[in-house]
Amino acid sequence: MQSKNVLVTGATNGIGLAAGQALAALGASVAIVGRSANKTRVAAAQISAASKGATVATFVADLSSQASVRALAAEVLACHPRLDVLVNNAGAMHGTRKLTKDGIELTWAVNHLAPFLLTTLLVDRLKASAPARIITTASGAHQGARIPFEDLNAERSYRGFGRYGETKLANILFTSELARRLEGSGVTANCYHPGLVATGFNRNNGLLMDLGMTALKLVARSPQTGADTLLWLATSPDVADVSGKYFLDRE
Ligand SMILES: NC(=O)c1ccc[n+]([C@@H]2O[C@H](COP(=O)([O-])OP(=O)(O)OC[C@H]3O[C@@H](n4cnc5c(N)ncnc54)[C@H](OP(=O)(O)O)[C@@H]3O)[C@@H](O)[C@H]2O)c1
Repeated sequence: MQSKNVLVTGATNGIGLAAGQALAALGASVAIVGRSANKTRVAAAQISAASKGATVATFVADLSSQASVRALAAEVLACHPRLDVLVNNAGAMHGTRKLTKDGIELTWAVNHLAPFLLTTLLVDRLKASAPARIITTASGAHQGARIPFEDLNAERSYRGFGRYGETKLANILFTSELARRLEGSGVTANCYHPGLVATGFNRNNGLLMDLGMTALKLVARSPQTGADTLLWLATSPDVADVSGKYFLDRE
């Protein structure tokens, strides 16, 4: 991965942080996106420490805001004449319905619209850097989900985990169509399910959920194991020409 520029969203914690550390350890030039300046600085230091002091570029953006996503893309384009790998990893589940300042339901905005918009804004730079790869962290939560096209902002149909599944189904459909549109460009688009991973995920939904996630830690994977398929999709020659697929455990 020497001389490869990699941008990872949601790299302040969990799977994204583990992926950033592993990519930097492989010699990639890692840039991370976080929404808190302080957390982003701390994560950059942790990634740098994992790679004997490599410089880690940091970008601060609240991915729930489309203006912030646009500002992020402009900054990335200004700082990175090449972009070899884009990892759309940031995501969350929200037990109760909240709106972003754009008036969009929060889970949909962060998990689906943000990667959609960021990828769209960066895709020409990825094409110019080809061969390049786009990887999106999906989930297994899409199973049984259906996108409510008649109620896209979930005004009538909001259920925390159900909504999360809709956004993760959207990640997979987005990857599939993106791959089709990128055919012949030298840019691949794939997504993956990291498995059940002990991270900060679902720690924002009250004490009961927090206790539940602590109990699940007993059977959950480490963030490093959760990031394994991401790392493989970002680096391996095995998948250099594979596009439009959904992976679990490298399959
Ligand atoms: N953990 C699992 O079992 C599991 C299973 C399937 C899929 N996933 C997916 O894996 C991905 C990574 O999650 P994780 O498990 O590593 O959870 P995590 O530890 O909570 O990490 C989520 C990351 O997303 C960032 N993020 C959330 N909202 C954001 C916003 N509005 N703007 C910018 N960044 C934002 C978080 O930033 P802060 O640090 O500021 O909160 C954090 O860096 C997510 O897409 C999740 O849906 C996780």
